[in-house]
Amino acid sequence: MIIAANLKTNLTRSATHDYMKELQRCVQNSTQEVIVFPATSSLDCYDTTVTIGAQNAYPVEKGAFTGEIGLEHLQEFKIKTILIGHSERRHILGESQEFIAKKFHYFKEQGFRIVYCVGEPLEIRESSKDEMLTYIHKQFEGIDTEYNNLIIAYEPVWAIGTGKVPTFEDIREIHSELKKKSSAPLLYGGSVKVNNVKDILQVENVDGVLVGSAALYVDHFCTMIGYADELEHI
Ligand code: PGA
Repeated sequence: MIIAANLKTNLTRSATHDYMKELQRCVQNSTQEVIVFPATSSLDCYDTTVTIGAQNAYPVEKGAFTGEIGLEHLQEFKIKTILIGHSERRHILGESQEFIAKKFHYFKEQGFRIVYCVGEPLEIRESSKDEMLTYIHKQFEGIDTEYNNLIIAYEPVWAIGTGKVPTFEDIREIHSELKKKSSAPLLYGGSVKVNNVKDILQVENVDGVLVGSAALYVDHFCTMIGYADELEHI
């Protein structure tokens, strides 16, 4: 399974080093694929078997894009994994589908592992199932869903950082729809915690989780990885 941590705008570089040291201890005997997305200023060469990914980068090698980092800055740390389409970038930072698709295309051309996020806001969730699926399908416009280095993360916006989670049946249903769209591994994200991760990982067509706030506690994240190992040995 794929167990990923999105650290968002948290943990300084020195705190991330401590985090990674601790995490390395617990992944040593794990068979899970573990990915950590540190804050941009915490990108570094970490002494770890865990994959380090970028939360964001501009689709360019380098240039005049104030406040952004480009390919060159990722290459410095041998980073080949990137998160694209996260709801906070779509809704807070205002990234359009067109720009997201451009970013996707650029990092696909560079052979990056792309964790591509989709998910609906509450008002769409409360409309019909058809409207919800149409909304999510639009988030695939311009995206090569058969790219062989792709991971998709389904993250309902209303579940991110809120403590609210869809029912397991809802997750199963939407994941089975998304599996028709792409054969890529499919993660669930949105208020994944130590106390619900085991159940979520057992839902059909859930290939892993993308964890935000709960992953800030390295012991919680390690527990989740341990649960995934246990489930694989059942
Ligand atoms: P959360 O965030 O676990 O805090 O809900 C998930 C995410 O944004 O990827």
